[in-house]
Amino acid sequence: MAQKPAPTAPAAQAALETAIRAQLRYGTSALLLFLLGGLSLEFLHLIKAPWYLDHHLRRELWVLGHAHGALLALLNLVWVVVLPRLPAAARGAWALRWGAALVPAGFLLGGIGNGESDPSLAIIATPIGAALLVFALFDTARAAWRRPAGG
Ligand code: HEM
Repeated sequence: MAQKPAPTAPAAQAALETAIRAQLRYGTSALLLFLLGGLSLEFLHLIKAPWYLDHHLRRELWVLGHAHGALLALLNLVWVVVLPRLPAAARGAWALRWGAALVPAGFLLGGIGNGESDPSLAIIATPIGAALLVFALFDTARAAWRRPAGG
């Protein structure tokens, strides 16, 4: 009688490795980028740049971009631990990466060419990114609640 494939069949293992690699690539690169962004903000304090320090909306948007970018990069690295235990999490991982990039991109770009009280139109990237994050987490949470086959 034909044997059932083992849970870690070579194809599944290769797919898992690919998914983990994508998370590692995004997570480490984005964390580096947003830490460098934090250093840049610190530099703007050092030189007392008036177009940053005195422009309250721009400063708030850039701090939000820096903080969300760094935290969402860490969330993508958390997926490296989630994926081996919940391979279905790989399905929405693209949305987790794009969401993690678009949310801070909207904040950062929204603070360029903005008015006194309104961000520039680029802020639209933030809710689009948020929707992608909701999709990724909803899909993963659903998979986590599903009863394992044979369980
Ligand atoms: C995982 C890493 C990091 C996370 C999650 C993070 C998060 C945050 C958060 C939440 C804020 C807002 C704080 C507030 O307004 O109360 C902030 C502000 C700031 N961060 Fe980071 N940060 C990280 C790394 C860094 C690094 C490495 C630097 C630079 C050496 C840095 C520089 C700054 C500066 C200068 C501000 C204040 C900007 C301003 O108010 O004008 N951050 N960060």
